[in-house]
Order: sequence, then C-alpha cells, then structure tokens
Amino acid sequence: MEGARDRMDQLVSLCKRRGFIYPGSELYGGFANSWDYGPYGVELKRNIRDAWWSRFVHGRADVYGLETPIIMNPKAWEASGHLETFTDPLVDCKKCKHRFRADQLVDAEEEKTLDLSGIRCPNCGGELTDIRQFNLMFKTFVGVTEDASSAAFLRPETAGGMFVAWKNVRDSLHRRLPFGIAQIGKAFRNEITPGNFIFRTREFEQMEIEYFVHPSKASEAFDMWLQEMKSWVADVLHLSSSRVVYKDIPREELAHYSARTVDIEYRYPFGQKELYGLANRTDYDLSRHQDASGEDLRYLDPDTNERFLPYVIEPTWGADRSVLAVLLEHLDIDEAKTAEGEKEPRMVLRLPPRLAPVQAAILPLQKKEPLVAAATELAATLRGAGWSVEYDETGSIGKRYRRQDEIGTPWCITVDPQTADDHTATIRDRDAMSQERVALRDIPSWIADKVGRRD
Ligand code: GAP
Repeated sequence: MEGARDRMDQLVSLCKRRGFIYPGSELYGGFANSWDYGPYGVELKRNIRDAWWSRFVHGRADVYGLETPIIMNPKAWEASGHLETFTDPLVDCKKCKHRFRADQLVDAEEEKTLDLSGIRCPNCGGELTDIRQFNLMFKTFVGVTEDASSAAFLRPETAGGMFVAWKNVRDSLHRRLPFGIAQIGKAFRNEITPGNFIFRTREFEQMEIEYFVHPSKASEAFDMWLQEMKSWVADVLHLSSSRVVYKDIPREELAHYSARTVDIEYRYPFGQKELYGLANRTDYDLSRHQDASGEDLRYLDPDTNERFLPYVIEPTWGADRSVLAVLLEHLDIDEAKTAEGEKEPRMVLRLPPRLAPVQAAILPLQKKEPLVAAATELAATLRGAGWSVEYDETGSIGKRYRRQDEIGTPWCITVDPQTADDHTATIRDRDAMSQERVALRDIPSWIADKVGRRD
C-alpha cells in the first residue's frame, strides 16, 4: 500500500507541477475535493470527450447528441425517485466525529443488510452512531425567494435530462428503434466521502448514453454495448486488461430498476473501484415519467402497430475517472541519458497520441536563424493541420525533452543546422527514444499516419 500511495503522490505532484490539475481555490486555502484542470489537463479531458463523441455519436448511425440543463423542473427528480432514494447510508463516530459511508465499512456481501453490529470506528475504535440516510442531491433556489416553492436541484446525473426529453426526441426524429441519446456534462453529488484526487468529487463530468430498444432486444443491445465499452477501454484509453475488471452484478444485488448491470472497475493504487457502468434499466425511468407527467411516452412501431415503452440500456462513463485511469495507467519512470552520458530517472507519460495534450513539440536546436524561422513555420503548418503543437526554444535540449516527456508529448521535432541544407528535421519518439529524419513537407502526414484519425 505504501508503494501505491507513492504512486498517487507522484501523480498528484506531477499534475500540479506540469499544469494538468491543481487544487481548487488554492489562493483561499483550497476547497475540499475540488480541482482545477490546468492547460494540459483541459486538453487531455477534451481529447477524451472528443474521442468519445466521435466514436459513439458521429461514428454511429443510431446515436444522437443532446444537451439538457443542470437545473431541471424538480418534478423530474421526484418522478425518477432521486428525491426519495438517491441517498447514502451515513454513520458518525461518537468519539472522534469522523464520518463514514456505512456501506464502505462492511464486506461487499453484507452491503445489502448493512449490519454494523460489532463494527467500531476505523479511525479511533470509537462507537458509531445509528445509520442515517443522507440525500446526495445539491439543493438550490431559483429566483429571489428562498422557500419550498422555489427549491430546485443540481442534477446528480446527466441521464435524467435524456429521459425527460425522450418524447421530444422521439417525435422530432421519427426514426425506428433502436436508437440512443448521448449527453456529456457536469453532474453534482454531495458525496459523504469524496477523495482520492479526482476519483470521487462533488462536481464531476459524465458521458452517458440512453439507448432505447424493444424489450425483446434489450439483452442483445446490452451485449453490444458491453463490447463497445470494452473496445473503448482497450483501443482508445489503452488500459491494460490486467487492470480492468468487468463485474456482472449478481441478480440479488441489482438496483431495483435494473435487469442486468456490469460494473467496469479499474485497479487504482487505492483499490479496485468503479470506472464505468452499464445497466439494463428496463422501462423503469420512462414508466415513472409517464405516470408522473400523464404524457404517453410509448413508442409506436410503424411496422407492427405495437405501442410499448422501450427498455433502456445505459452505458455510462465518468470523464474525470477516465482522466485519472489514463494518467495512472500511462505514468512511467524509466531512465534517460544526460548530455554527459550519465543515466538519470525519467518521468514519462506514455499517453496514446490522440489523447496527449500536445501531439508535437517543435524545438530549434539553437535560438538563431535560420533555425528559428524554419521551426516557427513548421509549428504554424502543424497547427494549421489541426494538431496541438508547442514551440519551445528555451533551455538545453535535454531539459526540453524531459518537460515534453512529463506532459506526454509523443514526438519532439528538432530543427538543427542540417535543416537549412536538406529541409529535414529529426523526430524523436517519446517511447522508443529513437530519432528519425523526416522531410519538413512530409511531417504533417507523418503525424497524421501515426495518430490515426479514428482512435
Ligand atoms: N446514470 C447512471 C449513473 O449516474 P453512476 O454509476 O452513479 O451511474 C456513472 O455514475 C459514472 O459517473 C461512474 O461510473 C463514475 O465514472 C462517474 N461518477 C459517479 N460519481 C462520481 C463522483 N462523485 N466523482 C467522479 N465521478 C463520478
């Protein structure tokens, strides 16, 4: 566990030092469990979101995008059951006042019964209070008065907006089932035990799909989405199969609305915990909204004239947990040679090129003409081709390489005196540490080939 903690500490400090993720509100002493995404963190998260959208919305003929508000009519959360049951069991230690989630104090098999008899405070051994149910919804007020009639809630998941908009999407698209709606956006939960860096925060981002199918096709659609999620994990995030666990939740432990759930877990340094989820939510959500709104939310099959409430398969991805898993997976420490030929430890983020905040760094070997002009022009050409590029002419070349290794830049392109003679530059590969001379005019297509457009 010591090594695991070291790894988290290494990552958290690298993220701050290099501008991926900073503690939130640090100027005012911080704000527990809130984080700012810095210039490179923003790019990494954006690349993950873009890859997701390109794969699951643009890349498929049966999924459409949607954006719904964070603050919705509170009746939606009443209908969905969130106001009543979106709770976590809370206990306090009577002695040291530490607060815990009761389900995290018992073994997985005992989570349903939550029998805490014989369990003492893990912090000080003190006696625990009885369990209280704590609602995770953040409450706010809309308008100038702060009373029950103006109370509203920040959404705890993006899914709710998609169920409420289902009728409009159904009516405007006029398309046959199955099809899905996708949404990326912030969600808010007043978590009792946030922590582990960006793993569990109170404000986070989700990427979710609600896929509507005929009930008889739900199980087939579930299998299809499980394959899609596996492919995302392996082909886009490049997470090692030894660190990802697909856990079919036993029938007796399923949530009341679910016919099948697979938890996708990752072996983080702090334990094996949820990364993503996939659920067959049956017609639970649509039937609740149909009952509460009085609107007919059924789908009319134009071929069979059958009218029915579709089942919903819901694959859900956390954007921040994707960032965390990708950073942990690809953070590596190896050795590099210094200018004097000595070996020194090198911290390197072996990010998949498509996800890397910077795809190529352009480094003139010396800060003088004609090197600077050639390097500046190459940087502008690559930017024009749509790549994220950094130009750096300061410090020794070794230091510049190290910096790019730490932010995960796959290729450093060095412009040197030979460039003026033969119009070539050296491309250094972050992982192979190999050097290759490539004609300047071929570099944009060289990078495009390496990154690949789809993944
Ligand atoms: N609509 C289904 C739903 O929201 P969930 O398992 O509660 O399911 C989906 O959340 C995903 O959102 C999780 O798998 C995780 O990646 C992410 N997530 C949930 N709570 C989070 C939190 N407090 N901080 C960061 N990510 C969170």
